Amino acid sequence: MTKRISLTQHLIEQQRLHNKIPSELRLLIEVVGRACKSISHAVGKGALGEVLGSAGSENVQGEVQKKLDVISNEILLEANEWGGHLAGMASEEMETIHPIPNRYPKGEYLLMFDPLDGSSNIDVNVSIGTIFSVLKAPDGMTTPSEQDFLQPGTKQVAAGYAVYGPQTVLVLTTGDGVHCFTLDREMGAWVLTQRDMQIPADTKEFAINASNERHWYPPVKRYVDEMLAGSTGPRGKDFNMRWIASMVADVHRILNRGGVFMYPADAREPDKPGKLRLMYEANPMAFIVEQAGGAATNGDQRILDIQPEKLHQRVAVFLGSKNEVERVTGYHKE
Ligand code: AHG
Ligand code: MN
Ligand code: MN
Ligand code: MN
Repeated sequence: MTKRISLTQHLIEQQRLHNKIPSELRLLIEVVGRACKSISHAVGKGALGEVLGSAGSENVQGEVQKKLDVISNEILLEANEWGGHLAGMASEEMETIHPIPNRYPKGEYLLMFDPLDGSSNIDVNVSIGTIFSVLKAPDGMTTPSEQDFLQPGTKQVAAGYAVYGPQTVLVLTTGDGVHCFTLDREMGAWVLTQRDMQIPADTKEFAINASNERHWYPPVKRYVDEMLAGSTGPRGKDFNMRWIASMVADVHRILNRGGVFMYPADAREPDKPGKLRLMYEANPMAFIVEQAGGAATNGDQRILDIQPEKLHQRVAVFLGSKNEVERVTGYHKE
C-alpha cells in the first residue's frame, strides 16, 4: 500500500524543508480545512439536513442568500475566531470586515473567503465549493480596518479552495506549488493525492457563459469566435466548451487538464468590471493558477498586481492555460 500523507504531515514537512510556513499559518490552514470538512458534511446531507433552498435574505452584492451560503459563512467564522491566529476576516456574505472579538487572542493574519461558491448549483446537486485567501496584517496593527485588507494579490501568503463534488477535495498553495488533498470521509482526514499540479500551456477547451455573447466587447467576441470556427478557422483546431457555473469546479478542471476560464466585463453595465470578486474569488484563484504554471489577467493586467480599492470590488477574469490567457489578453491590447 502506498504511504498516505495527511495535510498536517505535508505542512510540517514543507515547513522543515523550506522554512516557509510559520506554525501560526499552518494552524490557520488546518482550521480552514476543518471548517471545509464541516461544510462538506452539511452539503452532503442536502434535503435530509434541511439545508437546501433560500435563506430569505440578501447579501451586500444584492444576491439572494441560500441557506448554505449563510451556514458555510457561520462555520468558517466560528472555526477561525478563537484559535489566536487571525486579526480579522472578510467574506462575500458580510457587508464589512469581521475583526476577532476582544474575548479571544489575536494573531497576525487576515482571512478572506467565498464561503460557498456556485450558489445556483446548491439545490441541483452540482459541484460547489469554498474559496479562501490569506494575507498578513500590517505590522503593529491591533484591530484591523477595511483598509488593511486592501492589499494586492501578490501579498497573499496562502490561498486555496475546497470542491464539494463526487469527492471532496482541498487544493492549496502557500507559494510553493499547488497540492491537492482528498477528504477520506471514514477517517475524517485530508490525504495528499496530487503534488505539484501543473496546468498545460496549451488547451482545446474553454469556459464562458455564452448566453452573454450579445453583450461581449469585441476582443472577447473575436477570441471566442475564432475558437468556435474550429479546425478550418484561424486557430486551426477544434475547441470544446464547458461551463459549470461554479468557478471552483471550472478552475479545478483547468488545474487537472488545462483550459481557459473567462468571466469578462461586458456592455450590460459599462461601469461594472465583470461579476467575480477580486478579494475572495479572483485573487486566490489567480495565485493558485500562477503557482501551477498558468496565467490570470483582467484582460489588461495581471490580476495579482491590481491594487484593490474596495472589499467587494469586482473584476474581469481570464485565467488558465498560459498561451490562451496571453492570446485573449493580447486581443484586448490591439
Ligand atoms: P457565488 O455563488 O459565490 O456568488 O459565485 C458564483 C459565480 C461563480 O462561481 C460562477 O463562475 C459564476 O458566478 C456563474 O455565473 P453565471 O450564473 O452568470 O453563469
Ligand atoms: Mn454569491
Ligand atoms: Mn463565488
Ligand atoms: Mn459565494
